[in-house]
Amino acid sequence: MGRMIKFARVDTLRVVSACVAIMLVTLGALACSDNGDSAKTSLRDRITELKIEALDTGPTHSDELFALGQALFFDPILSGNRDISCATCHHPDAASGDALPVSIGTGGTGLAADRQLGASRHFVPRNATELFNRGAPQWHTMFWDRRIERDGLLGISSPAGEDLPTGLPNVLVAQAMFPVTSRDEMLGDKDEASYEEGGNELAFLDDEEAIWEALMVRLLGIDGYVEMFTEAFPEIPTENLTFVHVALAIAAFESDGFAFADSPWDRYVAGEAGALSEDAISGGELFFGRANCATCHSGPLFTDQEVHNIASPQTGPGKAGEAPDDFGRFRESFDFEDLYRFRTPPLRNVELTGPWFHSGAYTSLEEAVAHHLDPLQSLEDYAQSASARELASLYEDEWSERQFSRSVRDETGAAFEGEFAFIYTDEVRTDMITRTLDPVIADMPELNDDEIAQIVEFLKSLTDPAARDLSHLVPESVPSGLPLDE
Ligand code: HEC
Ligand code: HEC
Repeated sequence: MGRMIKFARVDTLRVVSACVAIMLVTLGALACSDNGDSAKTSLRDRITELKIEALDTGPTHSDELFALGQALFFDPILSGNRDISCATCHHPDAASGDALPVSIGTGGTGLAADRQLGASRHFVPRNATELFNRGAPQWHTMFWDRRIERDGLLGISSPAGEDLPTGLPNVLVAQAMFPVTSRDEMLGDKDEASYEEGGNELAFLDDEEAIWEALMVRLLGIDGYVEMFTEAFPEIPTENLTFVHVALAIAAFESDGFAFADSPWDRYVAGEAGALSEDAISGGELFFGRANCATCHSGPLFTDQEVHNIASPQTGPGKAGEAPDDFGRFRESFDFEDLYRFRTPPLRNVELTGPWFHSGAYTSLEEAVAHHLDPLQSLEDYAQSASARELASLYEDEWSERQFSRSVRDETGAAFEGEFAFIYTDEVRTDMITRTLDPVIADMPELNDDEIAQIVEFLKSLTDPAARDLSHLVPESVPSGLPLDE
């Protein structure tokens, strides 16, 4: 298996530069392109063929529910130590993410790219997803590994199993139940637990239901919230309010606040021929045609919501037992086919939401796109990439420490605990990644730099100009009176 893939590992650089040389000498562009213009389907035809339609951003919510959700989203009162809110990692100033490769949870200081890890804290293992258009009715999965998903007639499956309240209307609401239960993100460590005034009484708790209940005690002890809940849920007596109402309000804020469907691409789909530049049109033709991008980045959200292994670099702290790696979907399914599989990210406003990939491995869109075209080679060469160099300088201490622990582990062979125990070396890792490599990604066409630039132009046409400035979403203050992130 490994050998087959090696065979596909063509030296792209050499081929591309040979092509460029031929072009320069003969001015015969046809010598390099494997599709004559006649074979190319126009972007307009592809839109018709693929039945591409306008994005439905979902139902909107009442002003009162939005206002409550906005307050809760920005209020550090939902965190054990009262020092971090949803907005810390999904901030309007950072296009609904945090502009970091991987997030920094409770104990950290500062916002977005300036955020620093607190003393003796751990990074959150993954890149904070952006939150654009999560109110769209197509969404049936949440998280890089789909650990929350709509599960047919059974409702919604999640890490809380049977403890997840039933009857939640969608996966976005279900998702909003969880960040408060994560020790590294919002809950805090056990040794921080305290019943003192203003102390972290939540950190004593291990059980989701108990955490949700304790948070309701906090919230309903604040007059401003009692009032806002009453306005948002006039038919629910205060004593019947639960954390589900918190989640409903947060999801309402997320879906209305971050809904943006008026990009140049949307205007082009609606018939406005001049909405896209020529390069963006050529990029779109590649995206939906020869470059196969839309096989996975499909539909109006530009994701199939399926998991794929595209041999992404294993940067960042990694997850639990397999650290410094992150086994992706395998962590949920325990199916070896799912090793290193991550959910296809949506691409609207992608230009604004770097660094990209599940651990923020790429700091440039060009490199993120180019990775797809020769994934195994790109994985092997990652340490030499501009992205790796940029991240290394941004996070010098943590990064070198991590690289160090990684190399120690690689030499000694890190053991993966339990019944799947094995010795873990670079070779083993590459072999594992190669085995489950997505067949589409294993067989991508070669593109030259101009074509990659065109695809990037196309990706930039997915930016709604209004999404560039989200500062109107930041409230002046929150009902708890706690300071907002800055
Ligand atoms: C410490 C940073 C941090 C905080 C605080 C945080 N998040 Fe996140 N969020 C993340 C990361 C990292 C992910 C991706 C995790 C994964 O996929 O495993 C994520 C994923 C999500 C997603 C999934 C989107 C998708 O399509 O998969 C949503 C929605 C979300 N967060 C909303 C929230 C809300 C609501 C809160 C507050 C209740 C919150 N987050 C608090 C970092 C954070
Ligand atoms: C086999 C499915 C598949 C194909 C084909 C594919 N992608 Fe991806 N793409 C993914 C997955 C999965 C990720 C996330 C990988 C990770 O996080 O480790 C991703 C990540 C990305 C990202 C980063 C987005 C973010 O928010 O982190 C961009 C940009 C992107 N792809 C563009 C493209 C383009 C352009 C093409 C065509 C040249 C393409 N993709 C083809 C599955 C695919």
